[in-house]
Amino acid sequence: MKPPFPLDQAPAPTSPRSSSELDALRSEGDLNQSPQRQAWAAAHLGSQAQNLLERDAAVFLHQSLSTPCLNVLRHVEGAWLEDIAGRRYLDFHGNCVHQVGFAAPKVIAAIKAQLDELCFCPRRYTCEPAIRLAEKLTQLAPGNLKRVSFAPGGTTAVGMALKYARVATGRFKFVSMWDSFHGASLDAISVGGEALFRKGIGPLLPGCEHVPPPEPMRCPFHCGKTCNLACADYVEYVLEREGDVAAVIAETVRNTPFIPPPDYWKRIRAACDRHGALLILDEVPIGLGRSGKLFAFENYDVLPDMVILGKGLGGGIFPLAALLARDSLNIAGDMALGHYTHEKNPVACAAALATLEVIQEEGLADRARDLGAWALQRMQAMASTHPLIADVRGLGLLLGMELAAPAPNGARRPAIAEAEQVMYESLKRGLSFKVTMGNVLTLTPALTITQAELEQAFDILDESLAAVRS
Ligand SMILES: Cc1ncc(COP(=O)(O)O)c(C=O)c1O
Repeated sequence: MKPPFPLDQAPAPTSPRSSSELDALRSEGDLNQSPQRQAWAAAHLGSQAQNLLERDAAVFLHQSLSTPCLNVLRHVEGAWLEDIAGRRYLDFHGNCVHQVGFAAPKVIAAIKAQLDELCFCPRRYTCEPAIRLAEKLTQLAPGNLKRVSFAPGGTTAVGMALKYARVATGRFKFVSMWDSFHGASLDAISVGGEALFRKGIGPLLPGCEHVPPPEPMRCPFHCGKTCNLACADYVEYVLEREGDVAAVIAETVRNTPFIPPPDYWKRIRAACDRHGALLILDEVPIGLGRSGKLFAFENYDVLPDMVILGKGLGGGIFPLAALLARDSLNIAGDMALGHYTHEKNPVACAAALATLEVIQEEGLADRARDLGAWALQRMQAMASTHPLIADVRGLGLLLGMELAAPAPNGARRPAIAEAEQVMYESLKRGLSFKVTMGNVLTLTPALTITQAELEQAFDILDESLAAVRS
């Protein structure tokens, strides 16, 4: 196949995209190519940050959600980021790694101690921190999730889960959700549901069917503002029609968040059982307490066959993910479905053990539930004073605020430009978060955030919404 441009020659820079082209790509987060980003940077970044951003952009491969980057950091701690100019931001994004807060002292101490003790464990050997972490996770997990495999990131753990499902069922098909994200590798984008990752890169894995997520605001079944589980029934319809699906894989709660109604997962669990499919729940950004429970599926009174944890598992310091599987899925002793260089990294495992200790000792799941309930009430109150707010939702400290603006025909349109404006207004005032689906302010603070910090963040959001309105 002829390459689209000579391989030894850099392609010409792409021309700026139209705003509707850009809008179609905003599913996972706000984009770095928008005019608002450029205007914010010109007005707020000093020469030191500008210079470092230029060096970053000159050397890294460009991607719409990272390079060219937003700003340059010099410190993170607790619920806060600090940029190179010394400005502080409450971080309500944190890439969802900051369950225990950034730079948690216990995690750092555990890492330092482990570095002096045993800093790596080559494959074929094991080590005590890895064994203790696997034991701890299986003790904490409900039901029969008694087997573990570690991976260096959520994407790789998702890939492993897909392979286990194929081996266990002898089937190759998967059902997953539109708008979902499971990582950026080819297998993960095949089950993922965002054009930003899937477009122009195929062929993807065969046998990946997508269904609509439980998301009333965008529901193709027009369920109104409340999910009536038509989407859950449709999963069963697809499982029945295909007849040979290996697994349904989904985020228990999409981190936008879409919060499924109470019976949603029970209905899908039962459908999987009826049609011989496994249920894989991806809790990479939402596990470890953020939802108000250690595992988000505990909010739904179901048990998956496999669950994936990641992100904050390494304390927000080490990349580490875990696949937890039913004991009866220990079926591939003569294959190699994981095989990652860092699958038993003692330092990452020490960080994770300390992280789990902090989550338990500080009762961070309960804390997320209580602070989240307060935040949701505050967001509901804000919705009555800001006409831009079309919906607010939350489960623990997994919070979302959807914005809509009047459209010419009396209807409402997704307030995409306004959401971005609110985000940059908030950054100006010291609050950082990302915008998902173009118009959903996605708010995921550290679970260690204080009540005062939480109030400060919502005051900033309130002022920013008011600024955009005026
Ligand atoms: C739901 C979900 N699954 C998987 C991943 C991939 O994790 P990682 O970036 O650690 O590979 C992510 C990352 O954002 C995620 O949000």
